[in-house]
Amino acid sequence: MAYQKATLSPTERPDLTTMVNTEEGWLDRRIFTDESIYTLELERIFGRCWNFLAHESQIAKPGDFVTTMIGHDQVIVARDEQGAVNAFLNSCSHRGNRVCMAVTGNTQNFVCNYHGWAYGLDGRLKGMPAAGVYQEATSRYDKTKLGLKPLAQVATYKGLVFGCFDPDAPSLDDFLGDFRWYLDIVLDNDEGGTEFLDGSIKSQIACNWKIPAENFVGDSYHAIWSHASAAKTLFGKPVRPRGLDKTFHASVNGHGWGVGLDGVGNAQATGSKVIVDYWRSREEEIVARLGKLRSKMVAASSSANVFPNFGFLPGHSVFRVWLPTGPDTMELRTWTLVNRNMPDEVKDAYRRASAFTFSPGGVFEMDDTGNWESATRAHKGLITSQQKLHYGLGLYQDVKTHPDLPGRVTPNMFNDANQLSFYQRWADLMSAERWSDVPQR
Ligand code: FES
Ligand code: FE
Repeated sequence: MAYQKATLSPTERPDLTTMVNTEEGWLDRRIFTDESIYTLELERIFGRCWNFLAHESQIAKPGDFVTTMIGHDQVIVARDEQGAVNAFLNSCSHRGNRVCMAVTGNTQNFVCNYHGWAYGLDGRLKGMPAAGVYQEATSRYDKTKLGLKPLAQVATYKGLVFGCFDPDAPSLDDFLGDFRWYLDIVLDNDEGGTEFLDGSIKSQIACNWKIPAENFVGDSYHAIWSHASAAKTLFGKPVRPRGLDKTFHASVNGHGWGVGLDGVGNAQATGSKVIVDYWRSREEEIVARLGKLRSKMVAASSSANVFPNFGFLPGHSVFRVWLPTGPDTMELRTWTLVNRNMPDEVKDAYRRASAFTFSPGGVFEMDDTGNWESATRAHKGLITSQQKLHYGLGLYQDVKTHPDLPGRVTPNMFNDANQLSFYQRWADLMSAERWSDVPQR
């Protein structure tokens, strides 16, 4: 393990195997608040899984970089002079100061603000002030051993850059598994590929990171109530996906997609005719590229989450990470993903739609974050924390799946199936000593 092991003994934390019950459909609330569980998450979820780091378009040129976090580890992602993407810790090998304070930019070196050690775009230590003095006074000085610590693995999937601290983790392709079939709907519906529109929206939210992750992995149910007034204001009617009998939950390895097949449902929720017209005008081309079934999913009523903490809304084009900063706090970063070949007026429409709907002042964001914070606060109550949470929606229904959707598929997007798959994966990883102990389900 790249992380030092959590120092807690099993007796100091609740028994995780009894806290997630996917057979009966309930969760123990302490998984959202307990400090020892959170410490273990840093090791076994964030220290072990592939984590979303950046879109390649954010670091298109040599010298481009972004900074982000994996758990509490600060990370720099940079493109070097040879065009390679590198990721390493944003903490100086000397006394540990952050070497890069910016969120994004272009540079030749990362120079530490404390004593001036300078690192290259590959994390290598290049030099320091008064290097001669330093060398003479330090008999075993070896510059090659003093670079910024690289992540064990870095890989990309169709423009998305992921990083992993665990050298024993499966490849990114295996980690994503059949979920790549779903990701291609948003990443590969056009031959020009995708890009993030410049700039991101950052906000601090007082909630546990798993609450938004489970919301995006499949909580269509909240939309009809939470978002009712915003939808009425925007469209004159509440959100109600059509043809519920033709919707599904699909999950792979804890990643999940709430499958709507209504073509442009989410695109319509942006309130922009320009966006809806764009997707309608490309229908035939998308059928040829992705097939009939996925052409109906490309901008449909749906939401998704890549385990553990990378969520998005297809068609709405809002992509975000839930970066934990504590058991009850997180930093939310949001970008707008567009096709590189989209006409400028469609990109502009998406830029406005993101800010209007899913920014801190966005009409849908405010509905969601208020509930996530309120639930996190409630979970902390001494007596309240002993009250189990209900995750049984659709649990005992007759299973009628779809023959062409990969993964674990259950009918009707008003369903807790994806949430339970997310928490099962969470419990499997939290209970396993190493990757080889994680069950294949
Ligand atoms: Fe970075 Fe000293 S802490 S140069
Ligand atoms: Fe919502």
